[in-house]
Amino acid sequence: MSYNASMRVWRGDQDGGALQDFTVEVNQGEVVLDVIHRLQQTQTPDLAVRWNCKAGKCGSCSAEINGHPKLMCMTRLSTFAQDEVITVTPMRTYPVIRDLVTDLSFNYEKAREIPSFTPPKGLQPGEYRMAQVDVQRSQEFRKCIECFLCQNVCHVIRDHEDNKKVYAGPRFFIRIAELEMHPLDTADRRDLAQDHEGLGLCNITKCCTEVCPENIKITDNAIIPMKERVAGRRYDPAVWLGNKLFRR
Ligand code: SF4
Ligand code: SF4
Ligand code: FES
Repeated sequence: MSYNASMRVWRGDQDGGALQDFTVEVNQGEVVLDVIHRLQQTQTPDLAVRWNCKAGKCGSCSAEINGHPKLMCMTRLSTFAQDEVITVTPMRTYPVIRDLVTDLSFNYEKAREIPSFTPPKGLQPGEYRMAQVDVQRSQEFRKCIECFLCQNVCHVIRDHEDNKKVYAGPRFFIRIAELEMHPLDTADRRDLAQDHEGLGLCNITKCCTEVCPENIKITDNAIIPMKERVAGRRYDPAVWLGNKLFRR
């Protein structure tokens, strides 16, 4: 069964833009990305959109649909009333390159600031041994597809451009947590998280967790345990003394 949907799509670049109205055919089972592709094929061949897998796994097609951060390829048209206007805009937290495509460089710069996995010296590949519970903990964080919707929705940087200098955001708090909880990792990223990546600016509103398409419990399983680790290191006298005597 087909019908015509009313779409509003943001068109423009870093110098400005506006919402443009379209009427476009929708078929049963389609997602927002299908309709964006139909617009490219039939009405706006120069409409810029980033996508790759159309299966919710590459993290490329992030946008805001009726104001909600979502993957376009995982948002079914059947979740909207047929007479509802569907508005698609680029993610607000990042500079627009063109139309629905934003500049995500901020995220890659933050990624480079985090020291990578550091196994004990002399441990050879094939000698790594971990308990299953530790494997499972890492696996939850490893499900991240780097769609950056959590970053986009985080109010610390969404509404405060200046904070980007001192704040890495939820995607990178789970990266730090994954490495900090890894039993074979020897690096200590707690001071980095608190003093340089802005862990203390997060006030645990859980907006990031709500938009994560991989259902990673970003706040409960990564951010709160990291805050506890930082607090333990800085304010627990026994931990403080231990750190002085036996630097990790
Ligand atoms: S819980 Fe923290 S990281 Fe997540 S959206 Fe809120 S302030 Fe940002
Ligand atoms: S944590 Fe979730 S919302 Fe954030 S980048 Fe990864 S998959 Fe996307
Ligand atoms: S196109 Fe890959 S996640 Fe949507």
